[in-house]
Amino acid sequence: MDYQVRRVTQSDREDVMTIARLTWGGYDYLPFAFDGWLQDPNCYTFGIEIDGHLVALNNLRLIDDRSTGWMEGLRVNRYHRKRGLARVLTKHIVEFAAETGVSRVRYTTDTTNAASLKLGQEVGMQRIFDMGVFWAGTDKIEPSGRPGRRLVNVNAETFYEQFLSSPDLVPNGTLIFDWKAVQVTKSSVLALEGKCRFWTSVRRGVLESFSLGLDRKEMKGIEWSFTVYANDDDAFLSHLGYHLSYAKKHKYNAAMGTYPLGFRKALLSSPMIPKESRRRFALTLLEKQFSSKSARSLVS
Ligand SMILES: CC(C)(COP(=O)(O)OP(=O)(O)OC[C@H]1O[C@@H](n2cnc3c(N)ncnc32)[C@H](O)[C@@H]1OP(=O)(O)O)[C@@H](O)C(=O)NCCC(=O)NCCS
Repeated sequence: MDYQVRRVTQSDREDVMTIARLTWGGYDYLPFAFDGWLQDPNCYTFGIEIDGHLVALNNLRLIDDRSTGWMEGLRVNRYHRKRGLARVLTKHIVEFAAETGVSRVRYTTDTTNAASLKLGQEVGMQRIFDMGVFWAGTDKIEPSGRPGRRLVNVNAETFYEQFLSSPDLVPNGTLIFDWKAVQVTKSSVLALEGKCRFWTSVRRGVLESFSLGLDRKEMKGIEWSFTVYANDDDAFLSHLGYHLSYAKKHKYNAAMGTYPLGFRKALLSSPMIPKESRRRFALTLLEKQFSSKSARSLVS
């Protein structure tokens, strides 16, 4: 098989849209991410060309002050799958990431995505932790009207200051939102201002729970994507109810919620969640750390 691994450019747009149309029944976010990847100086988008067409792509984004290589959007055109192209691209991007000087590469995937898990394992990645995920169409949502905790909408800086009182709320110091992950440092959190909105609940100067939410554009509409972290079920359900109401009130297509698995029982038994959304779905964070020897700075 003749193929070429190369950087992706605007001239590949049509092939990228074809790939997205053939992925997840058209629910792919790729068309909304593509331009941003090409314009962002922290992004390196690679693809595979066969017979003059781009048939696979994957983006590497340098985050956490360029200490983490975030791998996102691995796609192979449906008609070119199971021929080893994703394996070629994954190896290439991990090697490229090591050359940029990052200390680790990471990505999230659905815990049932066998190909994605296998590809990560083959390049030496390990599963760090899982988080539950659910979707609910806003037409089916029945938010309960009585929040148990007082939630306050705060900016990223205030959130970070409050977070310092309860860093253990977030496993591994890694904040998960909308299938992405960032280390909770001041600069990473401040970089989320304008993209995400934060809600916190503080008691006696200690952060007891928080959530963050953002718009998620997909080909079939806009979803409200949120993550909740809390220290007990009551606080968790308060944030859950708030975000489900928010999604319904603001006429989002659907709500996608991400949560620590310790709250799965509370989530699945909540009357706010429609029956068809009570599924045991989860994402997992994979990571490979580089020794300082393998990570050498070659990229300007
Ligand atoms: C996941 C995806 C990128 C795999 O691409 P691919 O080019 O077909 O993968 P490869 O041919 O390199 O296969 C790598 C390994 O994964 C396995 N694999 C591929 N597709 C698989 C599937 N649907 N189920 C189980 N295993 C699978 C292959 O068997 C192969 O292992 P093997 O050589 O030991 O048999 C492709 O199916 C895709 O674009 N899917 C939709 C988007 C997606 O899920 N992206 C990844 C998560 S964001």
